[in-house]
Amino acid sequence: MDLYEHQARELFKDHGIPVPDAAVVATPREARAAAEALGGSVVVKAQVKTGGRGKAGGVKFAADAASAELTARQILGMDIKGHTVRKVMLAQPVDIDAEFYVGYVLDRAAGTFLAIASAEGGMDIEEVAATRPEAVVRIPVDPAVGITAEKAAAIAAAAGLPAEAATVLQQLWQVLIREDALLVEVNPLVRTTGGRILALDGKVTLDDNASFRQARWGTSHADNADPHGDPLEADAAAKGLNYVKLAGRVGVIGNGAGLVMSTLDVVAGCGAEPANFLDIGGGASAQVMADGLSVILSDPDVRSVLVNVFGGITACDAVADGIVQALESVHLTKPLVVRLDGNNAAQGRAILNARAHPLVQQATTMDGAARRAAAFCLMGASPQTPAATQGVR
Ligand SMILES: Nc1ncnc2c1ncn2[C@@H]1O[C@H](COP(=O)(O)OP(=O)(O)OP(=O)(O)O)[C@@H](O)[C@H]1O
Ligand SMILES: [Mg+2]
Repeated sequence: MDLYEHQARELFKDHGIPVPDAAVVATPREARAAAEALGGSVVVKAQVKTGGRGKAGGVKFAADAASAELTARQILGMDIKGHTVRKVMLAQPVDIDAEFYVGYVLDRAAGTFLAIASAEGGMDIEEVAATRPEAVVRIPVDPAVGITAEKAAAIAAAAGLPAEAATVLQQLWQVLIREDALLVEVNPLVRTTGGRILALDGKVTLDDNASFRQARWGTSHADNADPHGDPLEADAAAKGLNYVKLAGRVGVIGNGAGLVMSTLDVVAGCGAEPANFLDIGGGASAQVMADGLSVILSDPDVRSVLVNVFGGITACDAVADGIVQALESVHLTKPLVVRLDGNNAAQGRAILNARAHPLVQQATTMDGAARRAAAFCLMGASPQTPAATQGVR
């Protein structure tokens, strides 16, 4: 999850990185009051999860509280690269002597972290990196060792940063490790004309897989739902489902990530495209099946649904019961092809046959099931087979 600048600033502050005083507001009137509290003049900054805000007119200086209100009025509601500004942060202005760039990022290819630093930070860092890559140093960091005082000093020296920046490099490493981040970036880290080192802008990407052990996810990050995220994925996440939206039209439900992945391949092999990945896991209850079906059926792209289950600890009859119960609570509007195999497959199939829902068909093999689901999808039609003749083929 990407954080907003003001959330990154809070994390920096908690780990001792000096930041300017600031306030976050959602209306021009609040901006006026907050600017007054901050001493009058402020920098008004759009809070959006995209870069290049300054160049888009989303970072503006206001000399007093009245102009802070006007500036906030201009910036709130602005569209920056498809992101609507709903909040602005007001920060105390500082007199900048020099701007630097510091950050850490997970380098998946190398299996390590990278420190990235430059003495030429600021809004043009991308251009600096593209035209004069030698001005941006990249130094691998052994995660088992971390950023010692020596390592921090070495990074600062290699990048041509002032020696005081080494402290921030150590604190920023703590942000990365303690907060379970995949990326932390300060741009610009500045030296003020008075010689202070301050983080004026920050980006943090947290590792979603660590949310369970980070208390903030339930509190200060809770309102962080990304309005640009997929609404189906958000719905599925709220239901605790392992769901990923894809581009096609065959909805897929399976148990176990491996089986679902191969189901996606088989659907593609039948000339159709899967609409999603959905793994309902090992102990799939009726509720989980109902939740999964309701997410998939609410996807307007879906034309047919394929349930591919290999019964293990959760036997097929339990899964079939789940489907039958799900059919009570979910209004099935699209053909549903079910393939049950493994533990108690025969009992499971019998349960579905007995239910005889007109839109539910069964197949004994994964290939056969995928072919049928793909065919429904390509026809864009409902099943041709009358309910009475449905059975295992
Ligand atoms: N509190 C501040 N006081 C003085 N100048 C500031 C302050 N905050 C930002 N600036 C100036 O504005 C520039 C742009 O600000 P910032 O880095 O926050 O936005 P940005 O880089 O355009 O946004 P993004 O990082 O999203 O691309 C900074 O490089 C700095 O020169
Ligand atoms: Mg910036």
